[in-house]
Parts: sequence; structure tokens; C-alpha cells
Amino acid sequence: MLNVHEIDKTFNAGTLNEVQALRGVNFSLSEGEFVCVLGTNGSGKSTALNAIAGTFPLDKGKIIVAGTEITGWPEHRRAKLIGRVFQNPFSGTAPTMSIEENIALAARRGCSRGFGWGLPAERVSEFKTRIKTLNMGLEDRLENPIGKLSGGQRQALTLLMATWLKPKLLLLDEHTAALDPKTAAKVIELTETIIQRDNLTTLMVTHSMQQAVNLGNRIIMMHQGKIVYDFRGSDKQRLKVNDLLALFDEIRRKEQIDPSVAELLRKEYV
Ligand SMILES: Nc1ncnc2c1ncn2[C@@H]1O[C@H](COP(=O)(O)OP(=O)(O)OP(=O)(O)O)[C@@H](O)[C@H]1O
Ligand SMILES: [Mg+2]
Repeated sequence: MLNVHEIDKTFNAGTLNEVQALRGVNFSLSEGEFVCVLGTNGSGKSTALNAIAGTFPLDKGKIIVAGTEITGWPEHRRAKLIGRVFQNPFSGTAPTMSIEENIALAARRGCSRGFGWGLPAERVSEFKTRIKTLNMGLEDRLENPIGKLSGGQRQALTLLMATWLKPKLLLLDEHTAALDPKTAAKVIELTETIIQRDNLTTLMVTHSMQQAVNLGNRIIMMHQGKIVYDFRGSDKQRLKVNDLLALFDEIRRKEQIDPSVAELLRKEYV
């Protein structure tokens, strides 16, 4: 369903602020695979998701979704295939527009002749049924501007909208990180329900080892712009939070050793 082939991305190339954010990232997802992406801060997780969504052009490599190469496609064209939810509850929806108008936008995403600004009655009632299951009291507030909702309510709605048209690929970038634990748990539950119901191929970035252990069928760990671990099948099922913490410790230890070794070598050879 997704093929990410040897992608490179360097920001501010040739300047003092040069960052090699992605270095030869290579992986494939089969249909229905649900992958949790872990990694230290700045390891390239968001950049990888942004590269797939088309936020910027790549320096090198190819991206193929459902058999179609989309490397040269602009972001808005990719949005027909890809649903996204970001960390910030204020991204992904238009704050001054009502819930209903935002839903209409989401519903129009895939079709050139959409529903206009009004949604057919049956779709409104279908959506109402879905948001009712959230138990957040949103079904009676369809006319309210999204900006007036809490972060959790917005994330839940954004998730419903991002998955409304069953995208080929769902990208979640720490979409519960800004929420209180109880609301985060609710949004995670909804996430799992939707992904399972529609068998959505999903990449979910998280800093929560517990989420990575509990959810999905694969864990990818990134470090310094590369994939350093990729666990699937029974290896993934066996992984515990402590195993993941140990891997992070190992990465940090190596990081501390590397500069000192480099310094020793420098002294020796200079
Ligand atoms: N638009 C940009 N311009 C310049 N540098 C960038 C840009 N986006 C990301 N970077 C840099 O690329 C590197 C990878 O960033 P990225 O946001 O992908 O990390 P991350 O793994 O998502 O980290 P976090 O866990 O903190 O969200 C970082 O060093 C970051 O500063
Ligand atoms: Mg990030």
C-alpha cells in the first residue's frame, strides 16, 4: 500500500543550520498494516510523515501509494489518498467554521463535484451517529464553530474527518500528545476502532511506549534520520515497554560514546 524508497531530505543545505533529517529511509507497508513510529526528538519522524504527505519536495527517493508513484504530486492532490491528524488540535480543521462546514470540507476532499457547503441529510445523520459514539455531546453542536471545542473534542473530530473517506493511508503525528490522559485514552480508543473497522493502513508517531506496545502490528524506531529498528509479527507482539526503554537507552549510550570516540580519533590523527 505504501512504498517509501530511499528518501533523503536535508533542510538548510550548505548552511551552518544544515540538518540531514532523512537519510536513505526505506520501508514498505502492506494493506491494513498499523505501524507505531518511535524515536528520539529530532530523529525525523514528523519529517518522514511530511515527506509522504508532500509538505516539501524530496532531495532523493520515491514514494508510491497504492501502486501509484506520487513523488511529484503536490500536497493537496495527495490529500485524496492520505488522511492526517497532527499533534496540535488547532491544525487540520478551520476554527471559525462550524463542525458541519468542516465535515462538508472533509467530505469534498475526494471529489471534484462535492457536496457544496451543505451536506445531504443522510450524511449529516450518519456523521451525527458517529460523533454520538464519542460520548462528547458533539452531535447537538454541529452549528458551533470548531474553535470553541476543547482539544480532545477537536482531535476526535479531526480523526473522524481524516478517515471519513477511508484514505489509502492514515498518518497520525502524536495526535494525542497535547491531551490530558483521560481524553488521550478516549481518542486512542477511537483511533483503534476506526483503523480496525476500515482496515486502514496507518503510520502513527508516538512518544508513548505503552501505546506502541498496545497498538498495531509493527514498530519502527528512528534515530538521526534513519530507521534503526523495525519489529513485526511475533517480534512486535513479544515486545514490552521495558524492551523499548532499553533500546532507547542503548541508542543514547551509543550517542554519548560516538562523540568521545571521534574526539580520541581526532587527537590521534591530527
Ligand atoms: N522545516 C524545517 N526546517 C528546518 N529544519 C527542520 C524542518 N523540519 C524539521 N527540521 C529538522 O529536522 C530534524 C528532524 O525533525 P522532525 O520534526 O522530523 O523530528 P521528530 O522525530 O518528529 O521529533 P519530535 O519527536 O521532537 O517531534 C530536526 O533536527 C528538525 O529540527
Ligand atoms: Mg515530530
